[in-house]
Amino acid sequence: MATALITGASQGIGACIALRLAKDGYHIALNHFPSDSDKANAEKVAQQCREFGVNAELFAANVADYSQCETMVQAVKEQFGSIDALVNNAGITKDGLMIRMPEEQYDAVIAVNQKSVFNMLKLAGAVMVRQKHGRIVSLASVAGLYGNPGQINYSASKAAIIGMTKTAAKELGARGITVNAVAPGFIQTPMTDALTEEQRSNMLKLVSMKRYGEPEEIASVVSFLCSDDASYVTGQTIEISGGLMM
Ligand code: NAI
Repeated sequence: MATALITGASQGIGACIALRLAKDGYHIALNHFPSDSDKANAEKVAQQCREFGVNAELFAANVADYSQCETMVQAVKEQFGSIDALVNNAGITKDGLMIRMPEEQYDAVIAVNQKSVFNMLKLAGAVMVRQKHGRIVSLASVAGLYGNPGQINYSASKAAIIGMTKTAAKELGARGITVNAVAPGFIQTPMTDALTEEQRSNMLKLVSMKRYGEPEEIASVVSFLCSDDASYVTGQTIEISGGLMM
């Protein structure tokens, strides 16, 4: 049976993707940030994955750190034998207006959202090249497509993921590996729970469907991109935003 590695899978969209891929029949390697609370949440997600009859194990790593990613990828390979799908989901926001943003606030978001994707594309990509197959999906954002005030760091990191997806798709395509991204709009998760009521209603004015998306609506597109049905789709970024901009 195939194995999927999902980063930042202890809550929100990542947890939902793990459950969906477990339902699809993947064994699940759940990455979580190395903290007690993330570990406890990830264990609950793993337990729910196992209810689909697949194996699910936890792998603690800060994905911004290359050596922790290296150790994790080796451990997943040893425990599961292969990495057939990789979902780069881990991400953070540290919002603030550009002209007031401290340098460290910019760098922190780039490290977690962008450098982590390089780490994982390189390390899991090398495993997939040896296997001669693989599916990679990264979480971009509408902020990377259109920009968003207060998110110079976040939008830079997510736009970078779109470019990295195209480059990796071109480098890995001949080896039977597809590399795609999804760009969610406003999805109901702990990340967006942090927004004020005013920010939420302003955002909804822009959404054609006049509602927030659910994590399951991201997971279903990731599931498609990780399936055999998407065997000739690569280098693409699929927007999942309820019709934000057209
Ligand atoms: P969330 O905050 O609920 O979950 C993010 C997960 O990433 C958490 O489990 C967290 O522990 C993990 N994480 C953070 N830093 C990490 C690190 N250094 N190493 C390992 N894990 C780490 O966020 P949500 O909403 O589930 O977002 C998931 C992805 O979807 C992110 O990449 C986010 O940028 C993206 N996204 C979310 C949108 C939304 O509206 N919620 C919209 C567009 C994109």
